[in-house]
Amino acid sequence: MPHDLVVSKLQANPEYTRQFAAAFPGEDISIQTFAKAIAAFERTLTFTASPFDAWLAGDEDAISATAKRGFMVFNGKGRCAECHSGWNFTDDSFHDIGLKSEDQGRYAILQIDALKHAFKTPGLRNIRERAPYMHDGSLPTLASVIDHYNDGFVHRETLSDLIKPLGLTKVEKQSLSPSWRP
Ligand code: HEC
Repeated sequence: MPHDLVVSKLQANPEYTRQFAAAFPGEDISIQTFAKAIAAFERTLTFTASPFDAWLAGDEDAISATAKRGFMVFNGKGRCAECHSGWNFTDDSFHDIGLKSEDQGRYAILQIDALKHAFKTPGLRNIRERAPYMHDGSLPTLASVIDHYNDGFVHRETLSDLIKPLGLTKVEKQSLSPSWRP
């Protein structure tokens, strides 16, 4: 979205006007305060003192047995770590994961055919707190994200080679997302 459009949309929204005034006293809603707000939000996503980190550091009791099985599926049969890799669970790259959206993604900027429908891999820390999911908010829950990757994606030329039907069992889906229900 062009900068001036973002700013005018925010300025027209009474709730944002109130919250910006509270967060940035004496400053207008501008592309600068907008960038500061996004940056403050992003800093909340880089928290690394979670039970998962304690487990990685060697505390076997820090997470549940289900969570440990979920991490095995994440790295193995689920193929998630092919793209969501590293401490922040992202390869910082761009992929078409087969969402139904018509949005052209990175292609709109670079005009490279292979980048049609490609979006940046988001990090997954604190993901439970951030519904709805994907660039367009089209997946309401983590359970629906699991169903998407299992067999819910659109097949098209630009679909990433790393996206394939997973054939996950109920137990495997629940280990990835305890809220998953058949
Ligand atoms: C081919 C690379 C790739 C693989 C494999 C992959 N992802 Fe993703 N993931 C992405 C990309 C790219 C996005 C962002 C798509 C968008 O917004 O259009 C994403 C988005 C997500 C989101 C939403 C994040 C948000 O902030 O909205 C979740 C949750 C997620 N993936 C979990 C998983 C899980 C769980 C698996 C394994 C079952 C997995 N991913 C496999 C690339 C991948």
